[in-house]
Amino acid sequence: MIEFKNVYKSYVEGKNAVDNLNLTIKDGEIFGFLGPNGAGKTTTIKMLTGIIKPTSGSIFISGKDIQTQTLEAKKNFGYVPDSPDVFLRLTGNEYLNFMADAYEIDKKERKSRINELSNKFEIFDNLSEKISSYSHGMRQKIVIIGALINEPNNWIMDEPMTGLDPKSSHILKEMMRDHVKKGNSVFFSTHVLEVAEKLCDRVGIISNGKLLAQGTVQEIKEKFSKDESLENIFLEITENEQNN
Ligand SMILES: Nc1ncnc2c1ncn2[C@@H]1O[C@H](COP(=O)(O)OP(=O)(O)OP(=O)(O)O)[C@@H](O)[C@H]1O
Ligand SMILES: [Mg+2]
Repeated sequence: MIEFKNVYKSYVEGKNAVDNLNLTIKDGEIFGFLGPNGAGKTTTIKMLTGIIKPTSGSIFISGKDIQTQTLEAKKNFGYVPDSPDVFLRLTGNEYLNFMADAYEIDKKERKSRINELSNKFEIFDNLSEKISSYSHGMRQKIVIIGALINEPNNWIMDEPMTGLDPKSSHILKEMMRDHVKKGNSVFFSTHVLEVAEKLCDRVGIISNGKLLAQGTVQEIKEKFSKDESLENIFLEITENEQNN
């Protein structure tokens, strides 16, 4: 479970990149975070993962406050950042072992998880190569595997499907569904509204830092305009906000 309570972030005085966010992602659900470029999605995710501090407000991950119980909170999530260009000088194997070290996963356990996940994403044969030699999609895969290596309850992913080929993207979506079936939660941002519509239990639409809508796609359609596609509703409400 993830909770945002009255969260604000201002990078420059007088302008809120995130403007009074109140949102709960429950156990057992996939929540899709939607919004135009510059809406505040990455800012929200960076506050959630403790990379940047909110200007005010609180954020809890499995009940732990990321600002005051940082280490405990960090044990409860796996994070995929918006850019997979991390630790380029390490090989895939070195990176995954580094992540496993950080989470103190014993040798036998990590070996089986690395084997399972890297075979699943078809990157096992490349693990001895440097990440700098990987394609964008391969980098994305290694970052996803690294984020999942400690089997976290909460998955926090910033545009995780970007760069993945259709098969890997399909596998990740299946893994998300399996993960929430076990009572965990997934919070991810995406620009692909079809993915949001098919995959997510609930979605939120943010624009100019404000959460304009949240609920199941059905609820949002009923609230805004029943006969419109999610795409049309998205365009309409984000357009209105940006014109304000
Ligand atoms: N480090 C920073 N310093 C100043 N302003 C920033 C910084 N990072 C983000 N912003 C501003 O905060 C706002 C929200 O940016 P953010 O990266 O959260 O958007 P986003 O929803 O993730 O967009 P995208 O879909 O393009 O990834 C934008 O106006 C952006 O210019
Ligand atoms: Mg972003």
